[in-house]
Amino acid sequence: MIKACLFDLDGVIVDTAKYHYIAWRELAKEMGFDFTENDNERLKGVSRMASLDILLEIGGIELNQEEKEKLATRKNEHYLSFILKMEPDEILPGARAFLETCRENGIATALGSASKNAMTILNRLELTHLFDAIVDGNKTAKAKPDPEVFLKGAEELGVEASQCVVFEDAEAGVEAALAAGMKCVGIGSPDILSKADIVISGLDQMDIQKLTNLI
Ligand code: BG6
Ligand code: MG
Repeated sequence: MIKACLFDLDGVIVDTAKYHYIAWRELAKEMGFDFTENDNERLKGVSRMASLDILLEIGGIELNQEEKEKLATRKNEHYLSFILKMEPDEILPGARAFLETCRENGIATALGSASKNAMTILNRLELTHLFDAIVDGNKTAKAKPDPEVFLKGAEELGVEASQCVVFEDAEAGVEAALAAGMKCVGIGSPDILSKADIVISGLDQMDIQKLTNLI
């Protein structure tokens, strides 16, 4: 019996990848190299500092910790300038409706995101009240594919891992869900998310029947 659904944020509830991309690309440009949309795929689900390390690796640039922190702060300020303007119409199709369906059916909901900006985004999208627990990058020490973020979510909800289903768009996130002993629904391409129990194109393709069939 499924008692809880845990949702990744970026790529599942809202498409913030485009804003992350513009902000990282700007930094790369300042440092004198190109950062492509294809490169940006490598940053999905990855924490801010780990993303910066990948960016610097692409540019072949080495910096000390202090310089890296300054750059990460600058990137985040740029990113914030976009997300502070987000409106509820940017919620991905079906996300709000499926969160409501879960709650109407007595299934608890949690957010499990690597982002330290998760609360800001949920507030902008007017979705905060639809989550029974919120675990974000401020509450976790270990990045996906470590299962920490989802195990904390289950703990906050008081639900066993085996009774949880995770919704994820990143390979590292799918691995984190499986490592937590949870079922996983991949959102996106079956090629990239082949380890997930099922893969759908978006939450508009999800319903209670498909959820129940997972266990
Ligand atoms: C994840 C995104 O959800 O959050 C990553 O998929 C991002 O691309 C990470 O780097 C950290 O986000 P933030 O908002 O803390 O910089
Ligand atoms: Mg994601």
